[in-house]
Amino acid sequence: MSDKVQIFDTTLRDGEQVPGCQLKTEEKVIIARELEALGVDVIEAGFPISSPGDFLSVVELSKALKHATVCGLTRAKKDDIDVAAEALLHAKRGRIHTGIGSSDVHIKHKFKSTREQVLEQGVWAVKYAKEKNYEVEFYAEDAGRADLAFLAQMIEAVIAAGADVVNIPDTTGYCLPHLYGKRIQYLFENVKNIHKAVVSVHCHNDLGLATANTMAGILNGARQAEVTINGIGERAGNTSLEEVAMIIQTHKDLGLTTDIKSDRIFEISHMVSEMMRMPVQPNKAIVGRNAFAHSSGIHQDGFLKHAENYEIINPADVGVPSSSIVLTARSGRAALRHRLELLGHRVEGEVLNNIYEHFLLVADEKKMVDDDDLSMLVASHLVLVNK
Ligand code: KIV
Ligand code: ZN
Repeated sequence: MSDKVQIFDTTLRDGEQVPGCQLKTEEKVIIARELEALGVDVIEAGFPISSPGDFLSVVELSKALKHATVCGLTRAKKDDIDVAAEALLHAKRGRIHTGIGSSDVHIKHKFKSTREQVLEQGVWAVKYAKEKNYEVEFYAEDAGRADLAFLAQMIEAVIAAGADVVNIPDTTGYCLPHLYGKRIQYLFENVKNIHKAVVSVHCHNDLGLATANTMAGILNGARQAEVTINGIGERAGNTSLEEVAMIIQTHKDLGLTTDIKSDRIFEISHMVSEMMRMPVQPNKAIVGRNAFAHSSGIHQDGFLKHAENYEIINPADVGVPSSSIVLTARSGRAALRHRLELLGHRVEGEVLNNIYEHFLLVADEKKMVDDDDLSMLVASHLVLVNK
């Protein structure tokens, strides 16, 4: 089995479903070009039948992208597949992503159907999409809650019908990592033709487990991860691209690779956040404002002695210019002295102690002490020293 994990980015489809995050086609083209430069393998460009805007976006991305596969989402319906095939006409490499519900709850309450009927419709959709001469990916919606034996039966049938990729989504973000991993393992052990397709994982974050589940799927043999920048997506979001890419890069012992050029991550995170008007939470892994900021005295002292004491990723590896030391009332003398040195003030001993006492009063008042505050503090002490 290949060690490369394909990165399938769905920022422009699942991510764009977030209320208020809708983009114009021109904006989607800008983001898609950045995603291509970042090294993603597949870009899901939209759901062509859903609106003229989505159709146009898939057309324009198909024209604009040079290397990445362009993917269009469909339901397991003829019109959806026809429209997606038309939208992808200019793609250098196009993929139709078709599928249907696989859990009993979806089969009964969404499709008002039976297992037999949805299986038949899924197989039909794959065969029909294959006739359009694109790659075909099949999604078994809500696979995280599907009956495992039925899921295996469905996956075997759609691979036999020609699916190149089979997507096992945890649509509702329900699974626990070890159980999601076991689902993927079960498919590898029970679907006879599983090696004829790439197994893909698509996890939602309703319980905050999307990245953990995605990694569990990969560790059990999946070789495509469906992700979004900053983890944006329906409800609590999707697995975030930057987390999966950096887990694989940081844990070299896993023996896995991606083509992601990690030093472009921070820039694209900002671009997506701004264009989609979706702020990144400050403590978000990898790309949050505080991801490389040290604020407690013990951590600052340890970090200043040796960055690896408190950092497992070099910020430059994800395009963050540098780590930061945030001066608060929890900071110690080491951090204060370090920042003062950066500002050109070398202070030691009694003077440092006095400035530190004064600094704590300001910090209690202001919560965060910035460089202007420090300059004023130092100036007032130097005046005192020189009197
Ligand atoms: O979450 C999901 O199941 C999806 C499918 C349409 C792939 O987004
Ligand atoms: Zn989804």
